[in-house]
Amino acid sequence: MLRWWEDAVFYQVYPRSFRDSNGDGIGDLKGITKQLDYIAQLGVDALWLSPFYPSPQVDAGYDVSDYCDVDPQFGTLADFDELLSQAHARGLKVTIDIVPNHCSNQHPWFLAAVAAGRGSAERARFHFVDGRGDNGNEPPSNWTSVFGGPSWTRVPEPDGSPGQWYYHLFAAEQPDFNWEHPDVLAEFERIFRFWLDRGVDGFRIDVSDALIKDTSWTDTEGRWPLIPKDDSCGVHQIYRHLRRVMDEYPGDRMAVVETGASDDIVALFIRPDEMHLAFNFRFVKAQWSAKDFRAAIEESLAANVAVGAPTTWVSENHDVTRSVTRYGSNLNLEGAYIPGVSGGADVDVQRGRLRARAIAILLLSLPGAVYIYNGQELGLHNIDDLPDDVIQDPSFFRTQGAVRGRDGCRIPLPWVHDATAAGFSDTETTWLPVSESYRSLAVDQQIPDANSMLTLYRDMVALRKSSPALRHGRLEWTDAAEGLLTYEVSYEGETLAVVVNFGDEPAGLPEGPVLMMSSPLDSSRQLPADAAAIVRKF
Ligand code: BGC
Repeated sequence: MLRWWEDAVFYQVYPRSFRDSNGDGIGDLKGITKQLDYIAQLGVDALWLSPFYPSPQVDAGYDVSDYCDVDPQFGTLADFDELLSQAHARGLKVTIDIVPNHCSNQHPWFLAAVAAGRGSAERARFHFVDGRGDNGNEPPSNWTSVFGGPSWTRVPEPDGSPGQWYYHLFAAEQPDFNWEHPDVLAEFERIFRFWLDRGVDGFRIDVSDALIKDTSWTDTEGRWPLIPKDDSCGVHQIYRHLRRVMDEYPGDRMAVVETGASDDIVALFIRPDEMHLAFNFRFVKAQWSAKDFRAAIEESLAANVAVGAPTTWVSENHDVTRSVTRYGSNLNLEGAYIPGVSGGADVDVQRGRLRARAIAILLLSLPGAVYIYNGQELGLHNIDDLPDDVIQDPSFFRTQGAVRGRDGCRIPLPWVHDATAAGFSDTETTWLPVSESYRSLAVDQQIPDANSMLTLYRDMVALRKSSPALRHGRLEWTDAAEGLLTYEVSYEGETLAVVVNFGDEPAGLPEGPVLMMSSPLDSSRQLPADAAAIVRKF
């Protein structure tokens, strides 16, 4: 018997950009509740809500100052409870983002740690270390932060003298917890229970693999941090503990971990006594080629077989350039840790959108769980010409503008072609400007259009729902000409053939009724370039 999350379709809602209900230009929980019918009509099984907790919003809420409340700009706990019960009433599960690696520098524990001074119990919950060199004026190691600049920041001691340094993998406003301290695990157990008691169905665990640092703080050649992830380092004990907590609750609560590690390391986090799913970012980094996508699928499936966990299929989220733009420019994201940096120039958006349609069919035809990022179903492209003065991403500030960051994939969603802020908000002054180029992609334009991206997503999610072969079938590769990706998925007597044309020439399809296609076939039943189709085999 499959558990609900094993082949579920999750829909990521980025609360700031989804729907603003109170006209302050920032999306909020009530806005999400208002649009639950839209989400339910997509046919997805579950939501993942990016952080909505109290936060100074230095990193769009991934700098949490209180893990058990709602930031007033997003609403109240009562609004959350309403969202949860309305979602459940529509058969939608709700999963929320937990940020365990770091908190905000305004979190009460961190404020207390700074105030308490060197050697205090309060400081022991973070990584406060004396500096090197004269008077400790140099940081303890040469490690750089993911957002640029050093990963150490110095604090004044309570007497005002220059003091210790604290470690932050991301921005200075995001101090890392010391997970070797028992208080930290106890606190996160409390946080997990707080939300599980409220009825959430699961969690997405941010930067899940970086909790344990090598505290020898040794300099490295690439200035990257030393973060062990193997079995001996303690990180897996943390997840085993949290798993036991989750298992006390009924209803198959689940967690998906975010990790950028290699396949073999990722597999460790989803062993049966640890977490349930791990994001698989292979599709985010794959180049537009049959070879690349086949390798991504094969290697992802193989890595998970060993631990008996299903894989996940992801092509967008709030950290990466929108796939329409990626596929329209063949942006190479391999090796990019923050792949939010877009080429900008030379993007063929029309072509990117055709290819993104094909990938919608591919994503939703594979065994495992699928994540869709809000706006992906509308075919939104990245907005790469934001003026400097509206940019919010901390990486922009920490690199003096060299990295423009991830704002381009976080632009508010367009709902109504002719409305103020394309229906996202009652004000034109939204947290990031709504792009004029999004108006023609607004929901009200796409719903009645049989050929829209939204219709394709709805149809494809519905086909997946009605065909177990597409959700958890056995996948077999079939012979294909150069540039084609072809496979069959089968389950209990049903076999469906999937063809994705990565090449330049039209391609023939197998015999049988065509159940889904991303572009119209030509008069001789050929699948054009940059398109995908599903055929039922007899
Ligand atoms: C999140 C980012 C965030 C970072 C720090 C990432 O994995 O997805 O949006 O900036 O963690 O919390």
